[in-house]
Amino acid sequence: MKRCVFLGLGHYVPERRVTNQELTALMETTDEWIVERTGIRQRYWVPHEMGGSELAEHAAREALARAGLEPGDIDCIILATLSPEHTFPGTACFLQARLGIPGIPAVDIRNQCSGFIYGLSIADAWIRAGQYRRILLVGAEVHSTGLDISTRGRDVACLFGDAAAVAVLGADDGGERGVLSTHLHADGRFAKALWIEAPGSRFHPLRISHQMLDEGRHFPKMNGRQVFTAAAQRMPEVIRECLKANGLTIDDVALLVPHQANQRITELVARQLGIPMERVASNIERYGNTTAASIPLCLYEAERDGRLRPGDLVVLASFGAGFTWASAAVRW
Ligand code: COA
Repeated sequence: MKRCVFLGLGHYVPERRVTNQELTALMETTDEWIVERTGIRQRYWVPHEMGGSELAEHAAREALARAGLEPGDIDCIILATLSPEHTFPGTACFLQARLGIPGIPAVDIRNQCSGFIYGLSIADAWIRAGQYRRILLVGAEVHSTGLDISTRGRDVACLFGDAAAVAVLGADDGGERGVLSTHLHADGRFAKALWIEAPGSRFHPLRISHQMLDEGRHFPKMNGRQVFTAAAQRMPEVIRECLKANGLTIDDVALLVPHQANQRITELVARQLGIPMERVASNIERYGNTTAASIPLCLYEAERDGRLRPGDLVVLASFGAGFTWASAAVRW
């Protein structure tokens, strides 16, 4: 059976490191509050004009090098982001131009913190169907230019960081390795629990007005409690769904890679499933929530640090705006 396998991973974070202490100069907050409620100690912000495609290019070149491939070996790009470089065209097109590989499809997907697993599901289906053999799957976010970096926006602004991480996916004919399953979910009834309202094409006659800017309606808004509660419920649920579909138990999982939204959510999920934290990936302390980049960034570090070895069973799980939630099982 043809399987979708991970051939190489790459990552990129911008140079500018922003500690919690630095945030205290920009808003009423404290290092203690942020660490206690979220586990985040620092995040990275782009230092100057730098879009997601630039972050993604660095990450993609590293992933390709680790896979022993050239950009020209790729036959499709899928890029997950909630912070597109421009309204249109998609950031995948800008990345494609940077990599110098015209002609192949360049697809943007908009599934927020579940973007990487949604993208993996699409890539897996295309690879198993034989439509493409080598896909660049990208998670790239520039949050910092979209945050309300003031006391008004502190609940959200302290959470998010900029980063890109990339997986080169390929077809493996007949092996045991690769993606075993993906499970995707969404519930649009909660679309406004975590969202950016404007600019929006439904506003008439213009997508944004001076008044909307003054009211801060172009900044992300979140019902933190609602998101927290739903994440703590949906993530264990979708992980159990994944294990059941594959006839596995939590003891079979060498590494659980949850989306890095909040360390308290990660610990709650692990406790509910009965998996020790030694087998749960966590790097939110250093990067904050990097949305579509968070899962591949964890995978990159786990592989680099020898926590992911060939033959290991890894389970990925996400929850984010939409609401969307998802899981995937991968034999590494
Ligand atoms: N620094 C200091 N105080 C802050 C703050 C900050 N950065 N952000 C919010 N506060 C304040 C609030 O204004 C509130 O003050 P009040 O009681 O005077 O109104 C107080 O802290 C408590 O806020 P609350 O929202 O009850 O805190 P919480 O324990 O729910 O924690 C989050 C807030 C955002 C950390 C938490 O809800 C969370 O992590 N939610 C999930 C977020 C998430 O994962 N989002 C991404 C999903 S992909």
